[in-house]
Amino acid sequence: MIKSKLPHVGTTIFTQMSALASQCEAINLSQGFPDFDAPLALREALGAHAMAGHNQYAPMAGVLALREQIAAHVAARRAVECHPESEITVVPGATEGIFCAVMACVHPGDEVIIFDPCYDCYQPSIELAGGRAVHIPLNALDFSIDWQQVEDATNPRTRLIIINSPHNPSGSTLSSHDLLKLEQLAEKYDLLVISDEVYEHLVYDDQQHHSVLQLEGLRQRSFAMFSFGKTFSVTGWKTGYCIAPPALSAELRKVHQFVSFVAVTPVQMALADFMRDDPGYPATLADFYQGKRDLFCALLEDSRFSLKPSQGTYFQLLDYSAISTVRDAQLCEDWTRQYGVAAIPISVFYQEAPEDLHYLRFCFAKSDALLKQAAEILCRI
Ligand SMILES: Cc1ncc(COP(=O)(O)O)c(C=O)c1O
Repeated sequence: MIKSKLPHVGTTIFTQMSALASQCEAINLSQGFPDFDAPLALREALGAHAMAGHNQYAPMAGVLALREQIAAHVAARRAVECHPESEITVVPGATEGIFCAVMACVHPGDEVIIFDPCYDCYQPSIELAGGRAVHIPLNALDFSIDWQQVEDATNPRTRLIIINSPHNPSGSTLSSHDLLKLEQLAEKYDLLVISDEVYEHLVYDDQQHHSVLQLEGLRQRSFAMFSFGKTFSVTGWKTGYCIAPPALSAELRKVHQFVSFVAVTPVQMALADFMRDDPGYPATLADFYQGKRDLFCALLEDSRFSLKPSQGTYFQLLDYSAISTVRDAQLCEDWTRQYGVAAIPISVFYQEAPEDLHYLRFCFAKSDALLKQAAEILCRI
């Protein structure tokens, strides 16, 4: 019989909750994807490239026209130069990029610091690389990082830190001060960094998104991960990119070429066209999603949930402690069946969830009509 390399891993909560939502015909605010379509020009470009015969393998590191658009985008947005050929790798989704980056730099016995609650793909990648994930809890109130705790957990075996801002599931963001602290620690202990920035454009209330690309010390030791799925509402296209200095990119590509080899050709070409023709599109996202966040939060004003508006991502946490003492996973299942609204329990994002955890995660990347329908139900609970 096969001996599992990931004995603790089952089907992801996203798949489970989406399946339950569909079985119960519930409103699905669990999995993180928009229920509206991607820009028409982008979809048309994909069709055009497929019809024009651009259907064979792309270059291993990505279609050059797309990598050039990415470089132009980063230069315009962050005044940071990255070389399309040696520093940008197009990957079939940030998940694949993160997996390849972990595989490229974690050796058996290495320790990797991750923060709980934590997006679910980090830990299995670390385990498959033979590393050990060291979980540090985020502050229970505002999901911020206690950098002293990080330093205390660092030792000669520590190889890598994985950060995620804006943060799934909490919606918190890292400040420029946080990144400075990270830079100091990474330089002091010679650590590598994976910075999961897939929600970089979804940052609210006039905040700026702070990227590891903007601090020279971090830039030199980081893999910065991005996802077109989140930015252009095409999660099903599974395409993203990694920006890392040449030596790190070279190691990432050694793994990438044997995991997937390439990302999908006509998708990359369509993305390159769209970025060239509508470079201002990503900057429209913050207002668009902030409108949805504000609508969802306002609609819940008279509910028994309490909430702090999300600072980023398209997720809103609702605190149900005034309603129930049932554990979140059970409650999500019960409410999907009983009330017909599906959410994600955030305990699944912890190695050891605190007993008194009482948050559910709702995705607000949905039509206003659906958000209204969901909020009406939530106000009755
Ligand atoms: C924090 C975070 N990182 C990475 C991903 C994966 O992105 P992709 O679909 O591009 O693999 C997601 C998707 O939900 C995410 O929320």
